[in-house]
Amino acid sequence: MPKPFILINLKTYSEGAGQRSHAIAEAAEIVAHESGAAIGIAPAYMNIHPLSVHYSLPVYAQHVDGSAPGAHTGAVTAEALRMAGAQGSLVNHSERRLTLADIEASVAALRDVRLAAVVCTNNEQTTAAAAALGPAYVAIEPPELIGSGVSVSKANPDIIRRSVDAARKVNPDVQILTGAGIQSGECVKIAMDLGTSGVLLASSVVKAKAPIAVLRDLVSLL
Ligand code: G3P
Repeated sequence: MPKPFILINLKTYSEGAGQRSHAIAEAAEIVAHESGAAIGIAPAYMNIHPLSVHYSLPVYAQHVDGSAPGAHTGAVTAEALRMAGAQGSLVNHSERRLTLADIEASVAALRDVRLAAVVCTNNEQTTAAAAALGPAYVAIEPPELIGSGVSVSKANPDIIRRSVDAARKVNPDVQILTGAGIQSGECVKIAMDLGTSGVLLASSVVKAKAPIAVLRDLVSLL
C-alpha cells in the first residue's frame, strides 16, 4: 500500500494548544520516521512558526484569507503563512465555511506563494467543485460524523467512493483525503483502498491520553 498523508488538525482544542501542540508534533515526527508515512499538523496560527522551526513535519494553517498583502487589518495572508514556515492551509473547513468566491481566492493566494491548499468538502458535488479549482488536495468530511467517534471509512464508505470518482472526473491530478471520526489503522486502510491519499483527523489524536499510541495504530496496516 502507498504511504498515506495523515494531517492532524489541532482545531482549538485545549489539548492541542501551546506546549501541548509541541508534544503532538514530536509524537507525529517520531511515528512518521518509524513508519515512512507523511504526517502533517495544522495548529493554531500562533504555533505555526514555532512548530515549523522545531520539527521537520509539514505544518499547515487551519484557514487562510484570500486577501493580498496590504491594508487588510486582521486578515491572515498566504504570504504571511509562508513566512511563518507553513507548507499549506486548510480552506473551507466544515467549522470555517467560505463562499465559493472566497474558496477560489484562498486557493489562488496559496498557489501564488507555492503553498498547498487542502479544500474541505461535505459531499461529492462540493468535492467536484473544489477539485475544479486546482488545489493540491480536496478533503471530503461528512459534517455529521466530525468529532463523533464514528469513522467515515466505516459508516459511509460510499461517500468516499463517490467523491473520489467526482474529483477524478474534473481533475485527475488532485489528491484526495477523507476525514471525520478517523481513529485507527483500519480506518486509514479503508480510506486508502477507496482511492484516497490519506486522512484528515483531529479528536482521536488530539484528545488522546497518549497521542503517539493512536498515531502508531493509524499507520499500523501500511
Ligand atoms: O479536520 C478534521 C476534522 O474535522 C475531523 O475531526 O475529530 O472527527 O477527527 P475528527
